[in-house]
Amino acid sequence: MTTRRSFFAAGAAGLLGAARAARAATTGYPYAEFEQRIARKDFRGMTKDVLPTPCMVVDIDLFEKNLKTMAASAKASPILLRPHVKVHKSVDVARRQTALGAIGVTTATIAESELMSGSGIQGVLWTKQPASMNNLMRAISLTKRDPTFMFVIDDPLVASQVEEAAAAASVKCRVAVAVYAGLTRQGIANGKPAVDLARKIHASKHIALEGFMAYSGTASHTHGFAARRRKSAEDLAGVQETVALARKAGLPTGIVSGGSTGTYNMDHELGLTELECGSYVFMDSNYKKVGGKSNDEIYTDFENAMSVLVTVDSKQHPGQVTIDYGNKAMIQVTDQVKGMPWLQVERQGAEYGILRWKDGGNEIKVGDRLEIYCSNLDMSTNCYDRYYIAKGDRIVDVWPIMGRTGAAQR
Ligand SMILES: Cc1ncc(COP(=O)(O)O)c(C=O)c1O
Repeated sequence: MTTRRSFFAAGAAGLLGAARAARAATTGYPYAEFEQRIARKDFRGMTKDVLPTPCMVVDIDLFEKNLKTMAASAKASPILLRPHVKVHKSVDVARRQTALGAIGVTTATIAESELMSGSGIQGVLWTKQPASMNNLMRAISLTKRDPTFMFVIDDPLVASQVEEAAAAASVKCRVAVAVYAGLTRQGIANGKPAVDLARKIHASKHIALEGFMAYSGTASHTHGFAARRRKSAEDLAGVQETVALARKAGLPTGIVSGGSTGTYNMDHELGLTELECGSYVFMDSNYKKVGGKSNDEIYTDFENAMSVLVTVDSKQHPGQVTIDYGNKAMIQVTDQVKGMPWLQVERQGAEYGILRWKDGGNEIKVGDRLEIYCSNLDMSTNCYDRYYIAKGDRIVDVWPIMGRTGAAQR
């Protein structure tokens, strides 16, 4: 781990000085053409120094390493991979995941499902049931456009509504029963209630039962590998029982979906056929704290591949600087400054945050740029509209984020 002492002994002041020199060299960048250049993917001369802040920057090498690590682990387990897109909300990321063997993607909203499917990604699994008429009718028309689309149901009432709407539209919806796996937000009780619902769905003329979905959200962030495995086993025990009962009853059990970045290397032993991991693509500071198989303090399986680039806006008081990363940009006190973990991140206002230190931060100057690892990817990516893709300091691409800005969110 980088300490204050080792960081400054390694010449941090020099690094910051180099950043200032780089900034001076970018005065010639044609800022007025910034958006036009992005539109035509002309990234000549575009470095991190010329970017507007705060913005999201992806380290392409670390990102690709994370994707390959997960793909290789799934292959070796073996278990299928249908990664969750809620953390990145990016078609470009999803395409790279499927290119490495993912069988589709998992989504949190009907809008995410429409975006992914509309971009040609097959095998979208939406993990919420269509409870509103709006969502139901959209799920029906998405099924019509894309017969590989699937969604979940945890309530017999919704199953009846889906059957009725699907019959009226002459489509056959593909559905997995969402069962309880330790998270009280969704999932019908395991055992008889789940099997009865599966039976009802299987008997519906316009719904094809695909299997089960069981997301163990509390296991994912349980600290320490052994404790996490115990928790996941506990949460999935009822699910395994349900699947066995369904199988015995002759019901389809082809899909048993669940899992997370925290449990990706244990759930293949606990009855899942496919994983819905999401955060591994970029990782966030909360996930880094859960500990892994080889290190109980820090989760080293995946790298922090995405950071929020910020600018130091003001330095008028001892022991602190002001940055242009505030509440609107999803600043959290649990965020971490890349390479300078001793800096405390504090919220200040809509457009401002504070970095505070007891000692060893005084070298930071107005105009310096720092990178911050956000605490929760889902929340943060929702506030931004693009990823700047970086190879070292050079920007080599820009990928849109669905965020909340696009009509597709509605
Ligand atoms: C339904 C569902 N599946 C899987 C995940 C796993 O995601 P992660 O790998 O980011 O923990 C989530 C995350 O919130 C989820 O909501």
